[in-house]
Amino acid sequence: MRLGLFDSGVGGFTVLRKVVELCPNTSFVYLADTARLPYGSKTTNEIIQIAEEISSWFSHQNIDAFLVACNTTNAIALDVIKKNLDVPVFDLIGSAASGIQESRVGVIATPSTVKTKAYTNAILEYKPKSFVIEQSCPEFVPMIEMDKMNSDDFLNVAIKYLQPLLNQKIDSLILGCSHYPLITPLLTEILTSNVKLIDPSEALSLKLKLSMDSKISNFSKKTFLVDSKFYVTSNPKGFLLKAKHWLKVFPEVNLVSLQKKGCVS
Ligand code: DGL
Repeated sequence: MRLGLFDSGVGGFTVLRKVVELCPNTSFVYLADTARLPYGSKTTNEIIQIAEEISSWFSHQNIDAFLVACNTTNAIALDVIKKNLDVPVFDLIGSAASGIQESRVGVIATPSTVKTKAYTNAILEYKPKSFVIEQSCPEFVPMIEMDKMNSDDFLNVAIKYLQPLLNQKIDSLILGCSHYPLITPLLTEILTSNVKLIDPSEALSLKLKLSMDSKISNFSKKTFLVDSKFYVTSNPKGFLLKAKHWLKVFPEVNLVSLQKKGCVS
């Protein structure tokens, strides 16, 4: 089973890790659009253009299914991705919303995701009586990518974002950006113990496993990362170090151009 997934940077690693836990016999084509990171402050049109380019690129990658490992693109351009790919597409927002049990839901996400209210709308579709509050966190992704998570600055920024949600007595918190599971230890330090953390990649992985079970069990060999391919739109060396840090692997990372020419090295 060969899965395609993408993100602006390392956020998709959290989705990849969750999928591997549930579906170990999968291999990946991972594209990090590092040249355009962060996505979270981009306009709707920019994200639509990015979704067009990325899904067109993946349409030539011989994948069996596609995971939208970026909430920002999920919120703005899921239809574009589905239109360009003829394999099953699994998304984070729909997967998470369909499994929500709690009634006072906080969502942290990028500014572009929050602007769409995609999480609120999706949750209310399944649980119309829920209370949902969304908080945009513009500083998180740049700080995570620059590995500034252990600073006091980061802690203060996190408290600034979470306090308004705690004031609203949330009982759950959705990590509405795939980068955020990387800072779970810090978030749990700030949150009160009654707040359940929800990582949408868990629901996505479960959906994937359920719908692909027969295919997955046909693969007896563990192929993860042996057959996986990693691509970036800039700085392969920097990304390689991040893969080593977060995934404990040392893969070959190839540079691609998404402007119609495909692989350039
Ligand atoms: N990790 C992505 C998301 O889930 C993109 C974050 C960014 O580049 O700002 O939204």
